[in-house]
Amino acid sequence: MKGKNIILGVSGGIAAYKTPQIVRLLKKAGANVRVALTASAGRFVSELSLATVSGEAVCREMFPPADIPGTDFTRHISLGEWADALVIAPATANTLARLAAGLCDDMLSACFITLRPGKPVLIFPAMDGQMYRSASVQRNVATLAAGGCTVFEPESGDLASGQCGTGRMADPGIIANRIGAALQAARPDSLLAGLQVVVTAGPTREKIDGVRFVSNYSSGKMGFAVARAARERGADVRLITGPVHLETPEGVERIDVESACQMHDAAKPFYPICAVFIAAAAVADYRPEMPYEGKLKKNEHQMQLLLVRNPDIIAEFGAQKRTGQLAVGFALETSEGLAYAHRKLDEKHLDLVAFNTYDRKTSGFEVDTNSLTLIDRNHRETSLPPMQKTDAARMLLDHVEQLIAAAGNGETER
Ligand code: C5P
Repeated sequence: MKGKNIILGVSGGIAAYKTPQIVRLLKKAGANVRVALTASAGRFVSELSLATVSGEAVCREMFPPADIPGTDFTRHISLGEWADALVIAPATANTLARLAAGLCDDMLSACFITLRPGKPVLIFPAMDGQMYRSASVQRNVATLAAGGCTVFEPESGDLASGQCGTGRMADPGIIANRIGAALQAARPDSLLAGLQVVVTAGPTREKIDGVRFVSNYSSGKMGFAVARAARERGADVRLITGPVHLETPEGVERIDVESACQMHDAAKPFYPICAVFIAAAAVADYRPEMPYEGKLKKNEHQMQLLLVRNPDIIAEFGAQKRTGQLAVGFALETSEGLAYAHRKLDEKHLDLVAFNTYDRKTSGFEVDTNSLTLIDRNHRETSLPPMQKTDAARMLLDHVEQLIAAAGNGETER
C-alpha cells in the first residue's frame, strides 16, 4: 500500500464512526488518503477527526465557495484521477442507488465517475438487514458489481437497530486488508496486459426435445469472475458462456451459446490466436443423440435416452496449442478428485488445473465462494482456503502470470 493514493468515501450510516480507524490503518501502511464525505455522513462522524487522521482537508461539496483564494475548481475531476483505489465504507442504500444510477452531485459520486478505468472500487454496504435484502438495494448492488466494483456482503452481528442480523460493516482491520489485496491485484504491469484470453463459463444445455434439456447446476460465477479479473489486468477477454443470469463484466466481449457443440464452434476460431484459454464452463459430457423436434409425448412405457459424447473443448485446445499458449482447466469432483485432477492435467495437456470440490456451501456450483487447489504443469499443488470467487479468480491469474513469466525465462514447455 506504500505510496498508493486511496479515496475513502464515507456515506451516512452509523458505521461511519469507525472510519477514522480505517484511515489510520491505511496511513500506517504508507498510503495517502483523502476522505470524501456525503452530506449526511457528517452527522455520524466529525469532519475534523477525519481531516486530522488523514492529514488532508475532507472533501464534501462539489462546488467550493468561489471567494476562497487557492481553491481548486477542478477538484471533482482531479481527485478521481489521482486515486489508485476508491473505497466506499459504509455504503448506504441511498449512496448505492446514486452510484448505480450514475448521479454526480457531490464529491464522493464525482470521484466514482472520474476514477480511471481498471482502478479498484471496493464497496462495503452497511445498513439494516431487511433494507439490504430489499429488491432495490439488491438491484443496485448487482448493477455496481456488473460495472466492475467489488461489493462486500455486510457482516452479521449486533446492529444499531438493537437487532442481531446481517448489515454490519466489517471491522476496519478487515477493510484495510481487503484494500491491500485489491491494490496488489490491480497491478498495471500485469503480464496479462494486452494478451488475448478466452474464458468459457456456465453450464451447457443439451436438448432432449423442443422444450426439455439435460444440464447442470453451474451458475457461471467462477468463469465470470475470471473474465473480470483478466480484464482488470488489461487482457483482451472473450467470454463464451452457456445460459446464466449474470451481467457481462465491463470491457469483456461476451458470446452466448446454449449447447456444448455451440460452445465448441464459438471457441474454435480463438484456438490459434489466444494466449491463454481458461475453461471454467461445466460443459455437458454427453448430449441426446437425436433431439426430438417438437414436444415428446408420454406413454405407459419406459423411455430410453441415448446419449453421445460431446467434444472436449479444452482437451482439443490443449492438444493443438503452440509453444507459449496456455491451457487452464477446472476439475470439479465430489470425491477422490485430486488424483483425477492430476491425471486430467496430463491427459488434456493442461498447464494449470483448478481443482474444487462440490459441497454447495463454500465450494463448487452456485455459491459465491470456492476453495481451489491449483495444480501446475509440474504437478505442484497450491491449496487455497475458501474465499470469494472474485479473490479465487485473482489467485488463479497470479498462477497464470507465473507460467507466462516462466515461459519468458525459457523454462521448459510441455
Ligand atoms: O473432464 P472434465 O469434464 O472433468 O474436465 C473439466 C474441464 O474440462 C473444465 O475445465 C471444463 O471446462 C473442460 N471441458 C471442456 N469441454 C468438455 C468437457 C469439459 O472444455 N466437453
